[in-house]
Amino acid sequence: MFWKNKICWITGASSGIGEALAQKLYDAGARVIVSARSENKLKSLCSSWEDRERWYILPLDVADHDNLASAAADALKHWGRIDALINNAGVSQRSLAADTDFSVMKNIMDINYLGSAGLAREVLPSMIEQGSGIIAPVSSVAGKFSTPLRTTYSASKMALQGFYDGLRAEVHDKGIQVNFIVPGFVRTNISINAMDGKGGKHGEMDPNQESGISPENAALIIMKGIEKNKLEITMGIAPKVRLALFLSRNFPGILARMLRTAEVK
Ligand SMILES: NC(=O)c1ccc[n+]([C@@H]2O[C@H](COP(=O)([O-])OP(=O)(O)OC[C@H]3O[C@@H](n4cnc5c(N)ncnc54)[C@H](OP(=O)(O)O)[C@@H]3O)[C@@H](O)[C@H]2O)c1
Repeated sequence: MFWKNKICWITGASSGIGEALAQKLYDAGARVIVSARSENKLKSLCSSWEDRERWYILPLDVADHDNLASAAADALKHWGRIDALINNAGVSQRSLAADTDFSVMKNIMDINYLGSAGLAREVLPSMIEQGSGIIAPVSSVAGKFSTPLRTTYSASKMALQGFYDGLRAEVHDKGIQVNFIVPGFVRTNISINAMDGKGGKHGEMDPNQESGISPENAALIIMKGIEKNKLEITMGIAPKVRLALFLSRNFPGILARMLRTAEVK
């Protein structure tokens, strides 16, 4: 019942977690706006959705910051409001800091941090006016502690934590909830699509992702977490990640020593 007729805008809906979430939200009766760069993949996702009144395809590159305002205006115009913005679009990294072009660092920040925060900023005024709204950014455990080969990815997700923790406090009295989503390992193409140091695709499936939870399961956990208005919604946290999270909070020196020799793919 919670999701019935809710207008949900999902970025990164052409693949993985975002695609599964769009599907599950549609199944739950929501009205769904799907965004990503790959319009064809969005079309193929929606092709089996029979209720033409409950979906809208809005192609969007979240790194094209000059276009965020008009994309938000387009999304708002379609049904007159947005109840939930799920800022899921993201790209990972597989390169040592010293081997990563500055343009790649900037691109990852542009997508993962500024694309998310920028879109939230565009949607906020309408949510404030309507006195309600859900903003759910998808971060990562890499936003809690950093590892080799993920320096900029981790920084982009930590930036999300800073932005959305502050935002949550700002909008609490305005009826807007902020649910921070923290996946561990989910079986998607995130590692295949990850950028190498020159901006090309890493092209390999990581064993961690391969053995992760399904995106469908992740989508259901996210939906339940938002329904319960959980501050942070975690999923797919493998035991070694759970240990690292504990160490990062309580014994950062031990984690720092372990990371020097940790086998990170
Ligand atoms: N899978 C995991 O284990 C895991 C773990 C931690 C965090 N996450 C986070 O979960 C989110 C979803 O990732 P995923 O695992 O589902 O990976 P994925 O299958 O690679 O999906 C990434 C999605 O982001 C979209 N995207 C990438 N760059 C974009 C851009 N510039 N503008 C608009 N959309 C863009 C992609 O669509 P287009 O290429 O069509 O634009 C795709 O729909 C990401 O934020 C990721 O950091 C995933």
